[in-house]
Order: sequence, then structure tokens, then C-alpha cells
Amino acid sequence: MRILFVGDVVSSLGRSMVKEYLPKLKDQYRPNFTIVNGENAAGGRGITHKIYNELLEWGAQAVTLGNHTWDHKEIFDFIDDAKQLVRPANFPEGSPGEGLKIIEHQGKKVAVISVQGRTFMPAIDDPFRAAEKLVEKARSITPYVFVDFHAEASSEKLAMGWFLDGKASAVVGTHTHIQTADERILTKGTAYLTDVGMTGPYDEIIGVDKEAVIRKFLTAMPVRFDFSKSGRSQLSAVVIDLDDKTGMGKKVERVLINDDHMFYY
Ligand SMILES: [Fe+2]
Repeated sequence: MRILFVGDVVSSLGRSMVKEYLPKLKDQYRPNFTIVNGENAAGGRGITHKIYNELLEWGAQAVTLGNHTWDHKEIFDFIDDAKQLVRPANFPEGSPGEGLKIIEHQGKKVAVISVQGRTFMPAIDDPFRAAEKLVEKARSITPYVFVDFHAEASSEKLAMGWFLDGKASAVVGTHTHIQTADERILTKGTAYLTDVGMTGPYDEIIGVDKEAVIRKFLTAMPVRFDFSKSGRSQLSAVVIDLDDKTGMGKKVERVLINDDHMFYY
């Protein structure tokens, strides 16, 4: 089983990268299952029904979310019917949507779990116990259990990796929009990467207009953050190979495509 995961798609620039490069990446890597984090896909904040459908149309089998899940009101109209959309499992009980989806593709079932961190992020339920419970449930159905841990602190993400080592097939981090270079297989077999990185504007600050961010640091005053719609862009992803019997990780390979990291196709 080979899983391709594309990191946080930010605004129209990020969506254009997915549309352009997903077919090429699929051609090159031949994944059996593709997951895209779409929590910033609509204007940098949240997702719309149209964009969710587009990401599926362009080749994703699952779309994960994060702290911007509720930013577009229309999410409430479609999240409960969206079978391939996964929001953080540790949102308070009773929240719409689900944090675990078992999705069948090419005759194989893949469990996709989303959880959100609490360090330097809004106070929500415990992601560790939520993930543990769902991973156990998922493993009774399929050996392929993928966890997107949407969190700010690398320590919290690494803790989740080790906590789920030998239980989840893969734990990858999202949210910081900066790709880390620590891809590895943990000692009990879980494939791990602290942050997959962002798919979107390349010359801005985590996707936001850099002048505004710098102004904020210089003045400490409220500044409106806009997500860049023009300029150079990048794609960040990870390719994970899983053992067909145990579901555990065999190989992790980062993918970074921008003008400083060319994609040879
Ligand atoms: Fe986020």
C-alpha cells in the first residue's frame, strides 16, 4: 500500500498546484490512496463544498481538515454527508462531522483519522486519547490506519508519533506550513513526519501576505491577514509505503516542489 498525502492546500494558488501536479505525482509515484489536507483550501481559511468536490475530482480519496474547519458557514450544510471529509476527532462531543473515515478504494480499506493539537492552539479535548480510541477501532477493520495530526508544536506531534508507534500505520503532522526533514520509521513500525508542509504561496509567510505579517511583528497592532493569490507557489507532500500484511510503515519519502526544489517528471 502506498499513500500519497498532500500538505495544507492554501487558497487558489495551492489549489492550482494540486490540479497541476497531482496527476504528475500519481504518474511518478503510483500511490494506491491519496489524501489532501484542505483546511486552508478556501481563501486560506476553511473549505467549501465546491472545493471539497474539486479536490476529490483532481484525485484525492480523502480530505482532512483542522482548526479552520468551521470558517465557511456552508460546511454545516455538507459535512455530515461528505463521506471522504475528516475533521479533527477531538472537537467537543456533538460537533458535526467525524474524525475517522474508513474509505474503500481499489478494493482496499484505508482508515483516515484527523486529530488536532492543544499546545499553542484552542483548548479542545485530549487528542491522544481520542486518537488511541479511533486507531484501535480502525485497526479492527483495516491494517492501514493513517493519522493527520494538525498541531503547532513539534514536541506534541513527536509525542503523538511515539504514542501511536506500532498502532497507527502513519502519523504525519500538518498546520505549521513548514516542511520538516525528520521523516522516519519509528521503532515499532509507524511512519512519521513532524510536518508535511504547505501547498500554496511560496514567497509569503505561511501563505499570508508577508508585508502584513512583518507589519504585525513591527507594530504589535491588529493587522488584516490576506492570503496571496498571485506569485510563485509550491507543493509539499509525503509518500508512505506500508506493509501489506502488518499495515506498518516501510518507507517515507518527502516531496517538495518549488523553484528551489525542482520536480523532474
Ligand atoms: Fe491549521
